[in-house]
Amino acid sequence: MPTSFSRVSAADIDRQKNFCAKIKEKYTFGEKYVYMQTFGCQQNEADSEKLLYFANLAGYKQTFDQKLADLIIVNTCAVREHAELKALSITGQFKHLKEQKPDLIIAMCGCMVSQEFRKDDIKFKYPYVSFLLTTNMLWKFPEVLYNTIKTGKRQICLEMDTDYLYEGIDSARQSDFKAWVSIMNGCNNFCTYCIVPYVRGRERSRSSKDILCEVECLVKRGYKEITLLGQNVNSYSPEGEDCSFAKLLEKICAIDGDFIVRFMTSHPKDASDELIRVIAENKKIARHFHLPLQSGSDEILKKMNRRYDRKHYFELVSKIRQAVPDIAITSDIIVGFPGESDEDFEYTLDALKTVRFDNIFSFVYSPRRSTPAAAMECQIPEDVKAKRMEKLLAVQREIIPADTKNHIGKTLRVLVEGRSEVGEKLLSGRTETNKLVYFEGDDSLIGEFCNVKIERSDVFVIYGSISK
Ligand code: SAH
Ligand code: SF4
Ligand code: F3S
Repeated sequence: MPTSFSRVSAADIDRQKNFCAKIKEKYTFGEKYVYMQTFGCQQNEADSEKLLYFANLAGYKQTFDQKLADLIIVNTCAVREHAELKALSITGQFKHLKEQKPDLIIAMCGCMVSQEFRKDDIKFKYPYVSFLLTTNMLWKFPEVLYNTIKTGKRQICLEMDTDYLYEGIDSARQSDFKAWVSIMNGCNNFCTYCIVPYVRGRERSRSSKDILCEVECLVKRGYKEITLLGQNVNSYSPEGEDCSFAKLLEKICAIDGDFIVRFMTSHPKDASDELIRVIAENKKIARHFHLPLQSGSDEILKKMNRRYDRKHYFELVSKIRQAVPDIAITSDIIVGFPGESDEDFEYTLDALKTVRFDNIFSFVYSPRRSTPAAAMECQIPEDVKAKRMEKLLAVQREIIPADTKNHIGKTLRVLVEGRSEVGEKLLSGRTETNKLVYFEGDDSLIGEFCNVKIERSDVFVIYGSISK
């Protein structure tokens, strides 16, 4: 686990960009392509955009066709076993591409490979993987890539003991109107089930000046939705500055332009009154609060080391709804945490019925190596976890349609994202409350805000038509 924290200097980043220039000069003339496969959360999506920026700088064009690739990057997640298995399985599928194209470079980076035991795992079981890069080393991608190409040798040696904070790496953004802006990295909370603090290191916040500069630039370029990212944005606290997350939001809202701000994720123990006030007072902040509850049982919350109880959570939800009546509240729920009794689980179901979340993301507990919960007694059998998950989803299914119907007749502002995948291929967008909306319209609206009058609703989609 990282034990120290360093700021990467501008000169160090320039040195990395120089490695890109050297690769471009010597090795990627002609057409060379990079294929990116990202797993996990938005933080990983944001990291992938930085890696792609470096790859572009080194002369690789992005491709969505694996067969064309000269460089494949698998950006992995370790949050649940399933995520790891998916990353390993796709990497396995790249073996035959390497056989056909021996010069192909396959890189694995991100949270899964930031676990010590995975290093040996990949070293021996995936000999065709060219190099590994832990999350803290992302900024050294050009150097490792250069050394791999130059020496033709695998680069498996990784530094695991330092956390870094860096600026000056652009992003090859995958959208022209929605942008991720990472405001901090790492996590200090050590929820007992969670691997993130071990693979992303200690919390470190970017300066508000750097963040504001990035957001200003994005807004000027026409970005309409800015999502601020951090494992717990509520504990944003840049070194040497008196700037809470609420203050940062206020400063961002003061930037001129037609855009909305989203943020994720918020830890309920740190959601302040100041933050609620700032949301209520600033129309640029989307009316959506993602507030992971994880469990409705005080006993389990304690074992999870969440440091709040259900009473605190319910009071927080009431305060938010009182201050911002039109806000949507969504949550993450884990079922089958070690020792979860039927009674504990009933408390979670009760919390769903009490709060009536606009949406939940529910997960079956997955033991993560080296986390305290993995060593706890009374692990719950898989069949019990599966049954509880079914029940949880059934309860939530009853809640969503009733609440979604409340939208009918209202006119809502929607950011148009593209075309729906199914049926009539209607335009698809999201309301500020993050509800999916389908409606008829022209492609020219993609990437723009428009007002949609809601006419009917499904479980997960609401339908309407454009209104002036
Ligand atoms: N930092 C964020 C999210 C971290 S991971 C937060 O604190 O909310 C996203 C979600 O994955 C968590 O909210 C949790 O619900 C789930 N999760 C994390 N570890 C898990 C595990 N071991 N098994 C199942 N779900 C897990
Ligand atoms: Fe994991 Fe908890 Fe940190 Fe979220 S707050 S990343 S769940 S340890
Ligand atoms: Fe996964 Fe890492 Fe995100 S473990 S959820 S990609 S922080």
